[in-house]
Amino acid sequence: MSEAAQDPEDVKLCCATAYQRDAVALILGESYHPGGLDLTRRLGRALELRRGQRVLDVASGPGATAFLLAAEFGVAVEGVDLGDQSVASANAKAAANGLGDTVRFTVGDAERLPLDDESVDAVVCECAFCTFPDKATAASEMARVLKPGGRIGITDVALDPNRLHDELKTLAGWVACLADARPVEQYVDLLGDAGLKVTVREDHHDALAKMIDQIDARLIAFRMARVPALESIDFDTARQRVALAAQAVRDGIAGYTLLIAEKV
Ligand SMILES: C[S@@+](CC[C@H](N)C(=O)[O-])C[C@H]1O[C@@H](n2cnc3c(N)ncnc32)[C@H](O)[C@@H]1O
Repeated sequence: MSEAAQDPEDVKLCCATAYQRDAVALILGESYHPGGLDLTRRLGRALELRRGQRVLDVASGPGATAFLLAAEFGVAVEGVDLGDQSVASANAKAAANGLGDTVRFTVGDAERLPLDDESVDAVVCECAFCTFPDKATAASEMARVLKPGGRIGITDVALDPNRLHDELKTLAGWVACLADARPVEQYVDLLGDAGLKVTVREDHHDALAKMIDQIDARLIAFRMARVPALESIDFDTARQRVALAAQAVRDGIAGYTLLIAEKV
């Protein structure tokens, strides 16, 4: 991967392509965010989701968030993701589980959402807002599709970019949700500028620390097992970056945050 300053469209393509690799599924597991399904459950409760509501999952990835919210909160979920293979396999999973009517995935860009104005009761976005190059546009798109009084729930990496190690400010660091992540206050301001008033903030840095440890453990195990899907990985570089990310969490530079905001 190139480490130079990036064209926004290239960054988006790179993120979508990276998260469709078999290697990512092996290393990250079922859902691609810190806190896994437990934090998604917490997000659903904090949003006070109710049976029959329509929810948009922005950057739905493998669909784990959408499937959990539909199963446990009785909502219909529309997932949008830039990765066409992610969308196809999430739709296949929905069909295989008889959920085709309630959980649906569409290829689309968070900065140009393929949904009508005021068409959903709630929006969720897990571990992806930090990767959108134009965060202000993504925030106003989420506000646009939300009904008045509706809520948005974000879980995301929050950090101090000025203290982030240079090795994590690369394109690889961008894809890994670090290079363009912002302090919590900036997320609150971005949402506020889009007409979304933050009502809940929670710190979940422990979930990020745990996920980083888990990634390192899997890298060690997969290297020893010589897993074919991971043959192209430079394990030494990957583990060095994982160690830097772990240090950033220990030093209080990086954390993970849950935000709920209401459309005012
Ligand atoms: C870290 S994964 C998170 C996936 C999912 N939200 C989860 O928590 O399991 C980031 C996802 O964002 C998607 N993505 C990145 N940029 C996007 C954009 N501009 N619009 C839509 N999806 C995007 C990627 O394709 C990838 O599936």
